[in-house]
Amino acid sequence: MLVTLRELLADAGRHGYAVGAFNVYNLESAQAVLRAAETLDAPVILATSEKALRYGGWRELGVLLRTMAREARVPVALHLDHGSSVESVLLALRYGWSSVMLDGSHLPYEENVALTREAVRVAHAVGVSVEGELGEIAGIEDDRAVEEGRARLTDPEQARKFVKETGVDALAVAVGTSHGAYKYHGTPRLDLERLSALHARVPVPLVLHGASGVPAHLVEEARALGMEIGDPQGVPDDLLREAVQRGIRKVNTDTDLRLAFTVAVRRFLRDHPGVFDPRKILEAARNAMIKVVQHRIEVLRGGTIHDG
Ligand code: 13P
Repeated sequence: MLVTLRELLADAGRHGYAVGAFNVYNLESAQAVLRAAETLDAPVILATSEKALRYGGWRELGVLLRTMAREARVPVALHLDHGSSVESVLLALRYGWSSVMLDGSHLPYEENVALTREAVRVAHAVGVSVEGELGEIAGIEDDRAVEEGRARLTDPEQARKFVKETGVDALAVAVGTSHGAYKYHGTPRLDLERLSALHARVPVPLVLHGASGVPAHLVEEARALGMEIGDPQGVPDDLLREAVQRGIRKVNTDTDLRLAFTVAVRRFLRDHPGVFDPRKILEAARNAMIKVVQHRIEVLRGGTIHDG
């Protein structure tokens, strides 16, 4: 069933959990997310970046993902991740997305407000919800890199004002995560005090980007299979649970799915040197992604703070 982000996150707020948003780009990744969510009877978000839409086609992915979302046995939002312009938002509206993000976080505050407000105006006119972003997290977002030292954490008072001035339905905040597999050099940490302050002040659900766990067992297997992966480090499950308890209601995951996909394909090809049926290869990848999504949904279930 296709629903808006607003509806999904309202339920998450009432019951104190976070909804998983998973980046997808083809049939198999979307099937993995929906099958995992259906086995756990959990609402879920299919997220598509602009890069994924350039890869797969707005219209083509729109038809596919919208059909899959509508027919799913759980509530699903189809969400544009990191929309960079009102033009992008309009394309998402045209092709049937139920939720969009306008990411003006790299802009000066007033410009971010103006751009986000315009996205809210056009999206709300057709009943689609909008996520905005304030503060900047480190790492790679589509084609734009933000260095670790330059990341700006979100100020709670400014965030309250931003929501009031723009009318967004959800807000992505910077509290110490970063996109990609290499989130931390030392001990993984989040600014949990800031997160609590944001939850207390901001009247809409909070979103955590760059939240992949980069599980050690996948990294070890990737290395054993010959992948050049260095020393990546993600957000540990316990820290993520704590973030949910402190008010995070949507958690984005991309890296963990990519890693699971790649490890599964490498393992399958090593173990089955005679197989060249793409369906068999992609089925192995899909099964690996299902496991990742199931695990993430379990972690995001059940905090202790309920909103309102
Ligand atoms: P990860 O790179 O940690 O998976 O984060 C993805 C993300 O935030 C997409 O918006």
